[in-house]
Amino acid sequence: MNLLKEKGIPLDKQIKTWQEIVKRPYERELVDNYTRTRQILLNGIETQAWNFKHCFVRKCDDLELNKILVNIRRIEDMQQTTVNWLSPYKQTVLDTTLGYEQVAVDLTAWLAQNEDDEYVKETFNFGLLEDFDHLYRYSQFAKMVEDTNPDIILHNMTDVVVGRPTQYHHNDNALRIRNHYDKDKTSPKTKVHILTLISAEQQTHNYYAEHGFMFGNNDLKQLYAEICDVEEEHVTMYETLVDPNESVFEKWLVHEFCEACNYYNCYKDEKDERLKLIWEEMLGMEIEHLKIAARHFEKEEKRDSTEIIGEEIVLPCHFESQKEYVTNILQNETSKRVIDNGKYSNVDKLDDNWESYKVQKAVSKNSAPSEKAIHLSIQAFGRDIALADSTLLNSQSKLIEKAKQKLYNAPDTVDCEEYKKFSKVKEVDL
Ligand SMILES: [Fe+2]
Ligand SMILES: [Fe+2]
Ligand SMILES: [Fe+2]
Ligand SMILES: [Fe+2]
Repeated sequence: MNLLKEKGIPLDKQIKTWQEIVKRPYERELVDNYTRTRQILLNGIETQAWNFKHCFVRKCDDLELNKILVNIRRIEDMQQTTVNWLSPYKQTVLDTTLGYEQVAVDLTAWLAQNEDDEYVKETFNFGLLEDFDHLYRYSQFAKMVEDTNPDIILHNMTDVVVGRPTQYHHNDNALRIRNHYDKDKTSPKTKVHILTLISAEQQTHNYYAEHGFMFGNNDLKQLYAEICDVEEEHVTMYETLVDPNESVFEKWLVHEFCEACNYYNCYKDEKDERLKLIWEEMLGMEIEHLKIAARHFEKEEKRDSTEIIGEEIVLPCHFESQKEYVTNILQNETSKRVIDNGKYSNVDKLDDNWESYKVQKAVSKNSAPSEKAIHLSIQAFGRDIALADSTLLNSQSKLIEKAKQKLYNAPDTVDCEEYKKFSKVKEVDL
């Protein structure tokens, strides 16, 4: 399918009434978990599209072009409201947070398996294990603070156990800078994969930054602060994969293409008939944005837009359970760390002067909230909140052992011995 040859909805027909913009939300407990992940991701895609055009207009002195950009930008903004407000008010901040981390885990796993560029794939797998650990830490509080069984949100599609422990995600942010692709050699698929993930990570960061304060529980607030900072590192990691030499018109084209591909993929997969129609209509809107961006790109750069986006649609966001894939990465990569020049290393090979040790010592000098979360669960339930088959559940101590750092661990680190004891404690009745 070549999106540029499909029929879009004319821009002047894209303005909606307030009643059309604000649609009936889905239901917290009845909605399919992957309908929720699609809705969360598309919200991130819209926010990215909107924000990109703000940056564009602020740097652009062409009035005629700006008139077009601000009008499309308003549509992106209206789309974002429609998509995000499909969330019901009864869905708590913690519920939504579990949804965000489920997006991060299952989307990243899908992208990694479909990514042809080995370095990009390695970077996706690296980030995957961190978001996987975030899900585990937040799940402790979902049960402790709101008495929520995480599976009410996850529907047993994503495991909840320790990943690469969050206390080890804090780096000298310069080490997170990855090597970027070459814009003239990279496939449209890789570009769309990366932009999709940047959009998801950016909105996750923003969501935590804007909602962490909404809890009276200070330990939970500190956990949001800790993980929010990791999401900032994730945005750094993924955005630096993009070639900064792409022109702004090229970037605009890729943004619209990315939006259209994501809506198409969600439309194709959606089981909720009502939301499926919404994704279909949004796709029609994005096809028109894409055509406008393509016209401007071709006029400015005197080359064909298919040189950038190809002639085939990309499928960047298929959601399905990724337990097997994630378990495999877990068993092999909790000890991995980022080092200089966009490379990766292992805990046992780290230099004693590894820059991230300094950051970790500074932020977790007193305590790591992500470790405290487990201590609090032990106090409350005798063990952690964890959801997986017994083999994976009982391998947590080994995962921790592999991940442990030689030179710095937070003073309240829950050690392997503690995890070994969990196998003798009955699982928490959720
Ligand atoms: Fe949009
Ligand atoms: Fe995360
Ligand atoms: Fe993340
Ligand atoms: Fe758009």
